[in-house]
Amino acid sequence: MRIEKYLPEEIPFPSTRFYAYLARRSPFTRDWYIYVAKTVASKIMEGRILDVGTGPGYLPIEIARLIDKVEIIGIDLSPDMIRIAKKNAQKAGITGRVRFEVEDANHMRYEDSVFDLVVSTGSFHHWKEPIRVLNEIYRVLKPRGQALIYELRKDAPKEDLEWLKERYGSLIAIFVYKLVSFHSALTMEEFRKTLGSPQNKFKRFSIEECSPFIMEATLLK
Ligand SMILES: C[S@@+](CC[C@H](N)C(=O)[O-])C[C@H]1O[C@@H](n2cnc3c(N)ncnc32)[C@H](O)[C@@H]1O
Repeated sequence: MRIEKYLPEEIPFPSTRFYAYLARRSPFTRDWYIYVAKTVASKIMEGRILDVGTGPGYLPIEIARLIDKVEIIGIDLSPDMIRIAKKNAQKAGITGRVRFEVEDANHMRYEDSVFDLVVSTGSFHHWKEPIRVLNEIYRVLKPRGQALIYELRKDAPKEDLEWLKERYGSLIAIFVYKLVSFHSALTMEEFRKTLGSPQNKFKRFSIEECSPFIMEATLLK
């Protein structure tokens, strides 16, 4: 059962605080942000990047640490997440190149073709109309721009759990495992099916498991 159907699209206060704390403390999410930031850096070294559903803003901060000629905008539907993200950027001493805005990815206020790359981690499963958001991402991307969308994988093979236990210990492994089984979970097939919808304007995409439990979709405009 997808419980997201019954939840609001945004993470509401005070769950925002709980999420921000967990995401900051967990080595699983920290490694994820670092992996994504490195992937982004392997694709562009300058330009404008949009992070959709930025939450506490850890990813834009990580990207800004790695690439200095980019401007990154993190958006979130939740005003409290944006407050947290702004504070985090200040604490990290990264302002100016990183901006956070309350924005609904279903209908963004940005002009067409203004971003070189769009990234999103763990937000896709919140979107009630994922195709609508994907088509908004398509609209704001420059021609030949690309989107990188990351989600947790519900049907990860058993070896993934063993890998998690070895790397992070049983507590975190079980937590991530339960989280993907009951909450933020899509099978790779479900992810592929949504992206492959004829309504999706992105006609070229690939999906792979980039690290245990994490699916990476690359969509090309
Ligand atoms: C699980 S959190 C992930 C946060 C962050 N990307 C990370 O990896 O830590 C998902 C975020 O997506 C945001 N979100 C959901 N639907 C959205 C929408 N339509 N527009 C903007 N943000 C949205 C939620 O408010 C939430 O902060």
